[in-house]
Amino acid sequence: MGEVIRSDLVVVGAGVAGLTAALVAAADGLSVTVLTKGRAWEASGGEQSTSTFYAQGGIAVVEPDNPEDSVALHLADTLAAGAGLTDPLATEPILADGWEAVAQLVGWGADFDTGSDGRFLRTREGGHSVRRIIHAGGDATGARVQQALATAVAQSPVRVLDDAVATQVLLADGRAAGLEFVSGGVRGVVRAASVLIATGGMGHVYSATTNPAGSTGDGIALALRAGAEVADLEFIQFHPTMLYVPGAHGRRTLVSEAVRGEGGILVDTDGDSVTAGVHPLGDLAPRDVVARAVTAAMRRTGSPHVWLDLSPVPDFARRFPTVTAGVRASGLDIDDLRLPVVPGAHYLCGGVVTDGDGRTSVPGLFAAGEVARTGLHGANRLASNSLLEGLVMGRATARAVASEPGVRGDVDRPKLSELPACDRAELQDAMSANGALDRTADGLDEVAALLEGAPARRLATVADIEDANLTLAARAVVAAARAREESRGCHYRADFPQVDEVGRSHRFRLVEGQMVAGVLVD
Ligand code: FAD
Ligand code: SIN
Repeated sequence: MGEVIRSDLVVVGAGVAGLTAALVAAADGLSVTVLTKGRAWEASGGEQSTSTFYAQGGIAVVEPDNPEDSVALHLADTLAAGAGLTDPLATEPILADGWEAVAQLVGWGADFDTGSDGRFLRTREGGHSVRRIIHAGGDATGARVQQALATAVAQSPVRVLDDAVATQVLLADGRAAGLEFVSGGVRGVVRAASVLIATGGMGHVYSATTNPAGSTGDGIALALRAGAEVADLEFIQFHPTMLYVPGAHGRRTLVSEAVRGEGGILVDTDGDSVTAGVHPLGDLAPRDVVARAVTAAMRRTGSPHVWLDLSPVPDFARRFPTVTAGVRASGLDIDDLRLPVVPGAHYLCGGVVTDGDGRTSVPGLFAAGEVARTGLHGANRLASNSLLEGLVMGRATARAVASEPGVRGDVDRPKLSELPACDRAELQDAMSANGALDRTADGLDEVAALLEGAPARRLATVADIEDANLTLAARAVVAAARAREESRGCHYRADFPQVDEVGRSHRFRLVEGQMVAGVLVD
């Protein structure tokens, strides 16, 4: 057994949500420990552990003195993208706090691209009615944000445990009281009055994704096993333009939506527009609409991809250096000025249910960032609202944590030696075939049978833990997708193609190993 660490707050995750919360809580005088798979900042330039690092397009934020924009307009765009399930009361304060949160990030050292007048440059992405997305290093926004946060944390009293994988939330008298983790094969414990899950998404339930390798749904699994509620998990957002590389598995290069914001055009392999007649915003329609149009174009032409025509984008390599590097690393020639693209698993719109302070249904347990379901994203996230949410909710959670009571009573530490776990490739293939963009009852039943029949696996390695988490997280997605007998936002049921009149979120809890459903009332 490793050491027992004591902190006021323990954070799982070193992306935008986790590090923001850690910095704000530490500035308020709390002792904070952060656990992360990999490292908070990989200076070598190799594979990074956070989705935050890989973010390209930017941060959607309303500049207070921009006469073309307002929080009300940003709210309207967010509600339109969310397809009836975005909660306006939860959303407005998140959007309204955006500017202050960005100002704090700039104070920590993040620098955004500016024009000759010294003001932030702004781009446009799908579903936005105005240019409101600020960016850094062209399309290296996430890398700049991650570096600024990790550098600020390194200069703060926050303790970061790299390569430390959280395995279970510890409870005392029904409230969260710490975490168990494994690092270098050794188990350790952090005892803390508050536990924040900020583990990002679960792209690796599918065989190809834009997400980093550690996005294996750990936070969803940790929260479910601790008794917390999750909601809206059926809404997995597929980005319309992931680089197509034949036969490639795992993380793949994203081609930012900002490329279309700067003039890029989607055409099928016959040369016809992919989105003509589909939506008034054309190639800049909300993501679910464009992703389905891309899939339809691929079916129509029989091609495994569509083309993204870069020729209208001036000085592409300078404006989009991250995409350019990713394309070259994949062995493709950027000078062709057209890229083969396909929809790819990108973002978890639902998650662990929280209030506006990041509190989950388990006292002392908080969630923030992509893993959380605040009500902002509804059935489909508006582009570039995620970094914004991570910043704003990281701050809100840190402030709420400061008022938590200390841990009393004995900490319950059940021995976690084995869990049900599917073979990873089999799970990913089944989810890609039957739980992705086109779903039916029969297909979902098939994948549910695989997941529910997962054999018990001894948890000897981090991969075993991740496979068990992928299995539980996928079960929750499939349960939610089976329950939603309609099509809305990112969730399309070929057997129920209509939208129900009443939009409701479904919540799920894990009770004695079974997924139990209810309706979420915001
Ligand atoms: P992450 O940044 O993913 O961090 C998760 C952390 O949790 C990591 O440190 C990970 O190691 C750790 N972790 C996970 N499980 C465990 C465990 N069991 N134990 C310990 N640590 C664990 N959004 C935008 O708003 N704008 C964009 O331009 C944009 N572009 C994107 C481009 C790409 C390619 C991708 C993948 C996403 C993009 N997004 C964008 C989405 C956005 O980047 C993410 O939703 C956001 O960064 C998530 O932040 P987070 O802090 O919640 O999680
Ligand atoms: C992109 O740059 O297209 C990604 C933006 C996002 O996911 O919000």
